[in-house]
Amino acid sequence: MILNQDGPPHDDHRACQNVAVLGATGSIGTATIDVVRQLNQVDPENRWHISAASGHRNTQLLAELAGGLDQPPDRVILSNNVTNDDLGSDEARLRALGSRIEFGPEALVSAASDESVDVVVAAIVGRAGLESTLAAVEAGKRVALANKETLVVAGPVVSRACQQSGAELLPVDSEHSAIFQCIQAAASKPKKLILTASGGPFRNWTPEQMDEATLESALAHPTWQMGPKITIDSATMINKALEVIEAHWLFGIPAESIEVVVHPQSIIHSMVEFEDSSVIAQLSPPDMRLPIQYALTYPRRLPCPTPEFDRKQPWNLTLEPADTTRFPGLELGFEVAAAGGTAGAVLNAANEEAVGLFLAGKIRFTDIVKGCRDVLENHTHESNPPLNRLLELDRWARGELKKRFGFA
Ligand SMILES: NC(=O)c1ccc[n+]([C@@H]2O[C@H](COP(=O)([O-])OP(=O)(O)OC[C@H]3O[C@@H](n4cnc5c(N)ncnc54)[C@H](OP(=O)(O)O)[C@@H]3O)[C@@H](O)[C@H]2O)c1
Repeated sequence: MILNQDGPPHDDHRACQNVAVLGATGSIGTATIDVVRQLNQVDPENRWHISAASGHRNTQLLAELAGGLDQPPDRVILSNNVTNDDLGSDEARLRALGSRIEFGPEALVSAASDESVDVVVAAIVGRAGLESTLAAVEAGKRVALANKETLVVAGPVVSRACQQSGAELLPVDSEHSAIFQCIQAAASKPKKLILTASGGPFRNWTPEQMDEATLESALAHPTWQMGPKITIDSATMINKALEVIEAHWLFGIPAESIEVVVHPQSIIHSMVEFEDSSVIAQLSPPDMRLPIQYALTYPRRLPCPTPEFDRKQPWNLTLEPADTTRFPGLELGFEVAAAGGTAGAVLNAANEEAVGLFLAGKIRFTDIVKGCRDVLENHTHESNPPLNRLLELDRWARGELKKRFGFA
């Protein structure tokens, strides 16, 4: 178990909370900046400061975000190995802020472990977030974890590092935040975790329709506004598969005690069943700012910019079983969580490559899950791999996936 659910939270009541937002230009990153801005108005105990902010390709947005803060970040990181020359007019805007400008993935690791940083928001998408998230964990930080791929790829490594450093790994994924909140509320050990899934844009589609799905239809998520990779993952339900694996590592629960139910309204974010069969759920409107804020301020609850429910209108909350025949990607999550070892790194890498090919218009929607299963079945499972072996397999699986579709 990574979350220390029984122990006291870190003493985080320092006068200024320095927050490093890794992946500041993304959907979670920009929502985090919104949350921090609002916290400075509602939190009497702390001042909140974005002390580091990173972007990868979107230098223009990074300059805008950094320039819009009350106090500029101490460091601004361009993790894509660009140089000052590549920055064009954004360089002048960034320089005018007086922030240190750093380049490349090493700068992410350095920011994540910087002594002055209190909280690291791990909001980079995909396996690219692994090294910096792990560095934050090894440095014993509070880590607000959006980058689920870190746990999918290297759950056991991160788990050991957390135990050694005493880092607090707090979930940002709304489902895992919900489970965390239910466990806190019940002050009891969970018997089963019940993850909810919106069902994505193809919830009612036939396999034949999905075979013809366009990029535009796959990106049209009915309830959440997210980055393109997680939006496609939601359409295949591989996102839920990754979340099953994430829940397994975060809460120390075996795969057979995790269930997925489809809840199209995305209001019940997840549920926990306890020993006496009582089920506790967490509900809120679908807005990521709430789980982000809870990960920052835990155990305190403060006013949050999310809209409130309109309880004067009729409610219609529905739950239906997940259909693994139409969504075979979901099954992969249970298999990989049960297998552990190298399986997560292989599934994640194959999926990232397949999603990249689909986004580039090179493969069909239904090829994503087929490709992932093939690569997973072609790999020789190892149960206790070190980090460098997981990274080797990450490269191998990407190559295999591309080969399968003739792009190697
Ligand atoms: N969005 C949600 O509602 C949501 C909910 C739950 C969990 N999550 C998880 O949160 C993470 C971020 O998702 P998102 O939707 O915010 O993604 P996103 O909007 O695509 O943003 C991704 C961020 O990562 C940066 N990035 C991309 N490739 C990178 C690389 N190779 N190295 C370093 N940085 C890189 C991007 O920089 P540039 O844009 O500057 O290139 C951007 O800042 C994912 O792990 C996702 O599963 C997201």
